[in-house]
Amino acid sequence: MKKFFIGTTNPNKIREIGGILRSTGCEFEPIGTVDPEETEDNFEGNAIIKALAYAKASRGITISEDSGILIPSLNNLPGPWSARFSDCKLEKENGIYRILEYHESALSREDIDRKNNELVLDLMKDVPFSKRVAKFCVILIVANERGNILFKASGESTGWISTEMHGMNGFGYDPIFVGGDTHGKTYAELDNMRKNLRSHRKKVLDEFKAWLGFYLKK
Ligand code: IMP
Repeated sequence: MKKFFIGTTNPNKIREIGGILRSTGCEFEPIGTVDPEETEDNFEGNAIIKALAYAKASRGITISEDSGILIPSLNNLPGPWSARFSDCKLEKENGIYRILEYHESALSREDIDRKNNELVLDLMKDVPFSKRVAKFCVILIVANERGNILFKASGESTGWISTEMHGMNGFGYDPIFVGGDTHGKTYAELDNMRKNLRSHRKKVLDEFKAWLGFYLKK
């Protein structure tokens, strides 16, 4: 069986990526032994940093991604700061939010996810429904140990931000993100299969699967 690696320290991403790629018949082994610093201010730059670092560590072909949520009424924040938004100090000038500083806290992933959601809901407490649109974005990069980027793709899923948290499934911003086609349910109210049918991650991994078919035939 052909073996690839998934470069991430996030167990939720491992579960989702592994589930979506099960049908390929290939083995995807998580490699979370490195946690490179994400120094870029955009998803693609950070995805490349991660892919190259993880591929070097795994010594094999490795898929890695950088993802997050963009909320236009918050000046497209949290964006690349999605994972640690509540560790950021914000400034609002002329109605526009900007990140002033960032100090990493020692909170667990679950606690920081909850605080991130609380912060977004608080910042948006006076934002009317018509301005609550949001989208998840992901950039997926496949790299090899020699530092070559073999494949790149981007995916999005559009929806809106609820006024309260709902649901226990998923991770990150799922409890406050209502999909455009989920009949008012947040992603955290969907089971894994239903989230994986429509998510940004599913879209980008479908493209990856098409590339994989080509790659394995070479
Ligand atoms: P990364 O590890 O820097 O790519 O962090 C991505 C962050 O974006 C996660 O920690 C989540 O907060 C958020 N995020 C990315 N994808 C999803 C998703 O599918 N659902 C909910 N939140 C997500």
